Amino acid sequence: MIAQPIAYAERNRDLYLTQLIDLLRIPSVSTQTDHDNDTQAAAAWVADSMVAAGLDNVQVIGTPRHPLVYADWLHAGLDAPTVLIYGHYDVQPAEPFALWDSPPFEPEVRDGYLYARGASDDKGQLFVHIKAVEAYLQTNGRLPVNVKFIIEGEEEMGGASLADFIPRHKDLLAADVALVSDTAMISPNQPAIVYGLRGLCYVLLDVTGPSRDLHSGSYGGGIDNPLNVLGHIISQLKDQDGRILIPGFYDNVRPLSEQERDLLGQLPLDEETWLKETGAPAIWGDPDHTLVERLGARPTLDLHGVIGGYTGPGAKTVLPSTVHAKLSMRLVPDQDPQEIANQFKAYVAEIAPRTVRVDVVAEHGGNPTIVDLDMPAIKAAVSAYEATFKQTPVFMREGGSIPVVNQFKQHLGLETVLMGFGLPDDKIHAPNERFYLENFYRGIQTSIHFFASYSEL
Ligand code: BES
Ligand code: MN
Ligand code: MN
Repeated sequence: MIAQPIAYAERNRDLYLTQLIDLLRIPSVSTQTDHDNDTQAAAAWVADSMVAAGLDNVQVIGTPRHPLVYADWLHAGLDAPTVLIYGHYDVQPAEPFALWDSPPFEPEVRDGYLYARGASDDKGQLFVHIKAVEAYLQTNGRLPVNVKFIIEGEEEMGGASLADFIPRHKDLLAADVALVSDTAMISPNQPAIVYGLRGLCYVLLDVTGPSRDLHSGSYGGGIDNPLNVLGHIISQLKDQDGRILIPGFYDNVRPLSEQERDLLGQLPLDEETWLKETGAPAIWGDPDHTLVERLGARPTLDLHGVIGGYTGPGAKTVLPSTVHAKLSMRLVPDQDPQEIANQFKAYVAEIAPRTVRVDVVAEHGGNPTIVDLDMPAIKAAVSAYEATFKQTPVFMREGGSIPVVNQFKQHLGLETVLMGFGLPDDKIHAPNERFYLENFYRGIQTSIHFFASYSEL
């Protein structure tokens, strides 16, 4: 039963690669409106590939921003479980273009890696499951489980349309488990099942002083400088050791059990190799927690961008009228993004001097999640990885965020299997993003095995 789809996927490696390259050529950057026709094109491309795979009810569903793509195949029989597969066809902006060794939307294979924006996050990984389904339907004419796909185009901008769609389409999306490939393994031969994802609270902070830029000689010393104030506010958000100073921030952080600390302590993460890949001179962080704990199980606050004042060539002496900062906080269970945004607003309002006006806008957010590891679908994922990689997957927490996982749980009652095929050095969101091609093919095999094992449990 499983031999034919495996052989089919094997036979079609080159074709699958050509197709993935086609999808990666579409610059479906969700946050940049001048790419709106590209997100439409990517949605249509994904839908076409689902039709070609043999899926039913393929629909491109319009939203206020970028379309969703739905498809299903529900003929496995009444007793067979249903798997809801999620992925996102949108990608992060590719800037700065100059740092790419080959253009981000002209995919190139070098040394067994496929280089392109979205190769690993998430086009390559979502395509894995479409191809696994195709391999079954084009050989056996059936799948051992029912499947539903829900693919979005707004993940990298917060996922508002899907968040709105889920609670209004509970029947359409009803399933027994969700399956998501949008995370990374430990190394090429060491698969990992992620059981924890951090949440996110992204805020924009504006500081405004005078109604126009002022000459810093005529006014300096008499009018407060919003850029100085911004720096001062930022410096009061964390202490020297990185502890976040917002009152109440840690109140709902669920402490790690000794058992989980032991488990995380056993993860095969080599700190030296990990550091080397970043290019930074040293590892940093909370001395009370190990690196693995800091990355997956502790919250953060980071500044991402500051706009303000004069940054052109030469010198210019102004007190800027208004300046802006972008910040985010990564959250862990049981922190709530809305509550954290309110705490952030209250604290900034309290520390800001009366010489400026401060505005805080919560841009987007997502809840953290811990998924249940004690369920048949996890056992199926373990055996699928073992069958393909000849290695038992480890269980780990991931520092990144996939907000939909919490929404599946909250509105559909679904646990999610986070079955990633990326690698830690895929450089997602950065120049020279890549996907290890062997993992693309192994991913398809793992998915084929997963459907078979899950149907038997
Ligand atoms: N696939 C990532 C999440 C991720 C990051 C998994 C790193 C494994 C390792 C996802 O596409 C992503 O980038 N999420 C955003 C969420 C956001 C924009 C709401 C993130 O984590 O910044
Ligand atoms: Mn992703
Ligand atoms: Mn991403």
